Amino acid sequence: MARFGLNIDYKSIKMKNNRRRFLSNLGSATIMIPSLIKGYTSSELQHFSPERLNETNISIWDLDTPSLCVDLDILEANLSKLQAITTQNGIAARPHAKTHKCPQIARLQMAAGSIGICVAKISEAEVMFDHGIDKILCTTTNVTQDKIKRAMSLKKWCPDFIQATDSPANARLLSEAASAMGITADIVVDVDPGMHRTGIPAGEPALQLAQLVDQLPSLRLRGILCYDGGSQHVSGFEARKKQTLDRLAAAADTVGMMRKAGLNTEIFSGGGTGTYNIDHENEGFTDVQAGSYVFMDNQYMAIGGEHNTDVYDDFRPSLTILTTVLNDQYEGRVTTDAGAKACTINQPWPAVKGQSGMDYRSGSDEFGTLIFNDPSRTYRVGEKLELIVSHCDPVVNLYDQMYAIRNEKVEAIWKIYGRGKSS
Ligand SMILES: Cc1ncc(COP(=O)(O)O)c(C=O)c1O
Repeated sequence: MARFGLNIDYKSIKMKNNRRRFLSNLGSATIMIPSLIKGYTSSELQHFSPERLNETNISIWDLDTPSLCVDLDILEANLSKLQAITTQNGIAARPHAKTHKCPQIARLQMAAGSIGICVAKISEAEVMFDHGIDKILCTTTNVTQDKIKRAMSLKKWCPDFIQATDSPANARLLSEAASAMGITADIVVDVDPGMHRTGIPAGEPALQLAQLVDQLPSLRLRGILCYDGGSQHVSGFEARKKQTLDRLAAAADTVGMMRKAGLNTEIFSGGGTGTYNIDHENEGFTDVQAGSYVFMDNQYMAIGGEHNTDVYDDFRPSLTILTTVLNDQYEGRVTTDAGAKACTINQPWPAVKGQSGMDYRSGSDEFGTLIFNDPSRTYRVGEKLELIVSHCDPVVNLYDQMYAIRNEKVEAIWKIYGRGKSS
């Protein structure tokens, strides 16, 4: 979708805010201020109360660029879809907040029926808790003294905090830290699905770790997690299903072994956006940790779904980057203001929403390039375009806030409080 950026309201000649008055007084004879253009920088907008936002009636096309936008109707449909399908399949949703890093979206996920959220980093957990989210599973093992201490301090204030562990040594450190704080920590054992990235091998090693957690004085075993990142983007539904079920079989067997040994298996968490409708077929599986489903992106749309083999359209793309055309002087191409610092260099590259016959590249730091298949086609300087993102998680981490849009109007401004919380 594209629209002209100069959205001039000829009816209202009044200058509405001090910034414009200030600017126009600066050099009255020499500076031509287009005072009728509604346009707000991100720093101005961050001070808008919801009431003022509502009164001001800002269109998405008034936003300064590059800006990160989320379409509320699509976001809400994605939330409902995950909830409906997981419920239908007899499991729960525990969405991964690493994707959005935004407490407001976590609140919507909880309101939609999620049993809690996941976080990748202890700093994300702290931010979420600070903003009222109190059912949190940290899926990454914390190995340094400092992070272990932070995780256990969080647990002290947040009774529904659960921490993953993947080694006996780490479990002992967690137990010592929990004892020192006078608490009992809730723990899941992270089981490796065969990627050898994190987790302990399934079977006997995982069982022994679960037994140790169960015995250590200040830990409470809650079950396991097994996230198979390598299966999420397998192309084609049947191939993805086969790989997922093959690779999670050992984790499912481990849950069976734990149950036989009298251990707690109330949690068997894992899976993501690519396998949310497959994971429940594993015996004992309890909840899916999908993250990207809220926003979607070109990487996910390319994998194909159960009912549409070309496009994975179980969830729709809600997240876009608004960008402005800066240069239209060269045939067959234009330059925009959204390069690598606004879009990342992940691939497949971003795509202009609602358009075909053109290729976007965000390889330059500051500039995007749009090449048209038909060289006579173009956009003009000042026009704004919406881009569907390549890979949502790293894009979100580039912005302080996102604009929540409904019917092209800015309905809310959501702070990405977890931005940069990577430790
Ligand atoms: C442990 C864990 N669970 C769940 C997810 C969510 O995956 P997706 O965004 O593909 O749904 C991730 C993403 O990397 C993850 O690392």
